[in-house]
Amino acid sequence: MHAYSVTDPVWFKLQQSEQETHEAKGVILGDFCIQCHSPIAALTNAITDHKNLTPEVISTLPPQIQEGVTCDVCHSTTHLPESTDIQTAEQNFETADFKLYLDGTRYSIIDDPQDNSFHKSEFHEGYDQSDFCRNCHNLTVNGMDAEVTNFEWEGTSFEAMGSECQTCHMPTYEGYAAEGGPLRENLHRHYFPGVGTSIVAGSENNGLLSAITEILDGSAEVNFFEPIADTVLSNESLKIKIIVSNNAGHHFPSGVTFTRQLWLEVNVSIDGDTIFQSGHLNENGDIYDFYTDPDRIVDPQLNVFNTVLYDAQGDSGIMNVSVEDMVWMNDYTLPVSGSRTVNYIIDLPTVPPEGGSSLDISARLRFRSFPPFLLRHINLNEEVDRLLIWDIDQISTSVVFQ
Ligand code: HEC
Ligand code: HEC
Ligand code: HEC
Ligand code: HEC
Repeated sequence: MHAYSVTDPVWFKLQQSEQETHEAKGVILGDFCIQCHSPIAALTNAITDHKNLTPEVISTLPPQIQEGVTCDVCHSTTHLPESTDIQTAEQNFETADFKLYLDGTRYSIIDDPQDNSFHKSEFHEGYDQSDFCRNCHNLTVNGMDAEVTNFEWEGTSFEAMGSECQTCHMPTYEGYAAEGGPLRENLHRHYFPGVGTSIVAGSENNGLLSAITEILDGSAEVNFFEPIADTVLSNESLKIKIIVSNNAGHHFPSGVTFTRQLWLEVNVSIDGDTIFQSGHLNENGDIYDFYTDPDRIVDPQLNVFNTVLYDAQGDSGIMNVSVEDMVWMNDYTLPVSGSRTVNYIIDLPTVPPEGGSSLDISARLRFRSFPPFLLRHINLNEEVDRLLIWDIDQISTSVVFQ
């Protein structure tokens, strides 16, 4: 996803629309978005017309810019800057701080690097620490949390146990770091899996898909909070309490939590006939959250674990409010080392069946990077079909209904 940070069609569309909306309010965003998504473009002032920045424009620029968060961005880093805070009052949006030392040396944590003819290689401390990721993965707006993966991780048992960002996102393997170099046991995978995948036509996503499957395996758990009675009676309502627990090193989801969808799908059936469903998809692939069903008629008991942004006018949601305008955020994510418990109350048929029927209850936790309606809203209609849903955990049980 680092290599994809200025290939992403969603990024281009949102970057352009943010430039336009802010310009209409008299605010120049300038390099605000590009600074983290292609730091070398920002550092070299390569973008002059931000409003008309398209993949075609980027493709005329040097490869280090096209590659977004590329090798050189991370491996020329010599100092670890503080987190990024956007001060909107001063209308100074360009505040990420990169300390890249560009004298032809590349730094990392190997203390006996192999000589090569491309660049000098040197050991530098800090590459195995979470702080290394902080200035891009910790964004506050006027001191308010917006995308704060590092803050979420700080002070947790993960930090105490030495589980850094790299521990989970850059697992080790044995191999060669350079041609002619020694076999090393402590190399690091660079897939940086989370939830995102390329939705550009023809993308292979190479090893990323299996890296995501691996990191999501066991990342959250779904359980019945209390056992359901063996027998339920007609005329009663069925109460289901489900607990969803988080095993990731930060909130789940994290980062751009306002565009993520993590939700519970629940299905209850009697002898195979569905009598209740929540978290199911409509014909467009959307869940019935307040964006697609403002009055919450179809799926009033739906549980989505993400955030909702509010601006100073009280508007809410990703269609109306961007991070730079937010003054408040409602946080429904799964807290780090924590859980959320949710309830469903389901009316059962009033007429008892003849003999005992089987009442089946199932629930699964589903996750995707964007809701389809957001992609359609920015005219990425074809790309909707390439959005993936990751099923993280599921439970089911059967009881007698009579
Ligand atoms: C120069 C800025 C920068 C630095 C430094 C950086 N990242 Fe990122 N990272 C990004 C951007 C921008 C994206 C989003 C790219 C996209 O999705 O288009 C991203 C995406 C990711 C993702 C994928 C998230 C998803 O939704 O799938 C992971 C995981 C990640 N970064 C982890 C890390 C870790 C761990 C470090 C530190 C070792 C790190 N990053 C350092 C800018 C950075
Ligand atoms: C204990 C393992 C673990 C640690 C430590 C960890 N992560 Fe993650 N990370 C995960 C898992 C699992 C996911 C997928 C679930 C999620 O999105 O929260 C994830 C997802 C992400 C994502 C995508 C979030 C989203 O929902 O869009 C980013 C970005 C990320 N991590 C960055 C980081 C950074 C930066 C750090 C260090 C401050 C870090 N991670 C530490 C396990 C970990
Ligand atoms: C987002 C930042 C980031 C990007 C982009 C990145 N790296 Fe790394 N790289 C790291 C970090 C952090 C480590 C050390 C991880 C640790 O020690 O826990 C590392 C380690 C390495 C090492 C040392 C051997 C190893 O595997 O530990 C080499 C070599 C390397 N990277 C090469 C590259 C190349 C080549 C690219 C581009 C194709 C690249 N890196 C892109 C952050 C990055
Ligand atoms: C402080 C650094 C920073 C700034 C500034 C920033 N981003 Fe990001 N952006 C990130 C990181 C880190 C991620 C990955 C977080 C995650 O996956 O949850 C990301 C993810 C995204 C994604 C999701 C990509 C995907 O495929 O999942 C989009 C779209 C995006 N940013 C657009 C923008 C726009 C538009 C702006 C300007 C208004 C902007 N960003 C400014 C760091 C930044």
